[in-house]
Amino acid sequence: MKLWGGRFEQGPSEVFQRFSWSLHFDRRLFEADILGSQAWARALARAGILTEAEAEQLCRALTEVPPPPADAPDEDIHTYVIRVLKEKTGALASKIHTGRSRNEQVSLDTRLWLRGTIDRCAARLRGLMAALIDAAAPHTATVIPGYTHLRRAQPVTWAHYLLAYFEMFQRDHERLRQARARVNVMPLGSGALAGCGFAVDREALARELGFDGITANSMDVSADRDWALDFLSAASLLMLHLSRLAEDWILYSSEEFGWLELADGVTSGSSLMPQKKNPDSLELIRGKCGRVFACFTSLFMTMKGLPLTYNRDMQEDKEPLFDAADQTESALEMARAVVETAQLRPEAARRAAAEGWLVATDLAEALARSGVPFHDAHQLVGRLVLESVRTGRKPQDWTGAALHDFDPRFAPGMAELLHPEKGLATRLAPGGAAPQTVAAALAEARRRLESIS
Ligand code: ARG
Repeated sequence: MKLWGGRFEQGPSEVFQRFSWSLHFDRRLFEADILGSQAWARALARAGILTEAEAEQLCRALTEVPPPPADAPDEDIHTYVIRVLKEKTGALASKIHTGRSRNEQVSLDTRLWLRGTIDRCAARLRGLMAALIDAAAPHTATVIPGYTHLRRAQPVTWAHYLLAYFEMFQRDHERLRQARARVNVMPLGSGALAGCGFAVDREALARELGFDGITANSMDVSADRDWALDFLSAASLLMLHLSRLAEDWILYSSEEFGWLELADGVTSGSSLMPQKKNPDSLELIRGKCGRVFACFTSLFMTMKGLPLTYNRDMQEDKEPLFDAADQTESALEMARAVVETAQLRPEAARRAAAEGWLVATDLAEALARSGVPFHDAHQLVGRLVLESVRTGRKPQDWTGAALHDFDPRFAPGMAELLHPEKGLATRLAPGGAAPQTVAAALAEARRRLESIS
């Protein structure tokens, strides 16, 4: 069924149909299209175009429209719904497009669908944040090596590390909520581009469909998809964070690092090498991140340079949007399962933090506290590390006396700082890695998690 025809002497060619039809992907908007059409029928009744009885009849018939079968011969989801509605209600269905264009319908349907999708993503993200907090709780004082440049840098705690991701994910959660606010504005009543000439109550439509308000400009409605890009941008950042977590954990669980154990349930073996336990779940999260970025840039490229208002190019918005949403949702579910089942090996982590001169900064800072200018202290500890590297000594191989012999500016008590716990305990400033500070940060993170929906 076509929604036009009077102007044409011939129908669309087979190749054009194959090329341009979108039902195979925009079928996802089926439920939204039904809801929107019912609301529009009621709005037309309030505007005096339909009688109450006619609107009722249309609404009832719309509830009886089944999801499109695989072989439905229709251009898109909107055309499909109208065709079936016509089969059910005859001439009455012809009235439902009064004052309504597919341009606003597609905006409405996509917004309704995206609103639900954002809510699902936000709920999954919240679940992941809760899993991070649970994983952090027993480890506010558990020492792990912290890295910069992927070189051992300073001791931190496992909880402090996990809470770093909690912070990133909380901002992602905020961005999803902000995107939702821009998505949740009601476009119906904009016509094809110039607005609606019938007395539809747009505010009532918005209330009925659960929107926070109505769009302010009809041309904007038919022209823009920035609200979809807002979601894709938020999803891209979220995936970026997931990808970095995945990368970290692939490394930390490797034989080379060896202080994190991934559960059997989220890893796979090799068809050839019997010893392998591969972090495929994390690799796929990292891989899907690239795919979501591609969806984001895809829609950006589609929109760039389009003359106002609607252009058919914009039909290309849906596949990247749907795909990005699917990948983000599934990556969140997977990440949560990995976080919930991973086991830290605290002794191995502590060993890595204790033997790699991560305590060098602690020593230099102790010297600074004793009055040695920090630059000189830095030089002195640097020489100590060089000497140790030359002679194959680890921090624990030094006694207080040996340090004092090396340079009398080392006071005997400073040998305590060769244990990573000592220096760690000094990092008490808010936001730092001291166990006591981390415990407070954890409690605060829990409070924040409870305040978000
Ligand atoms: N399938 C189209 C889309 O997604 C619906 C809008 C069609 N509008 C039009 N003027 N051809 O963009």
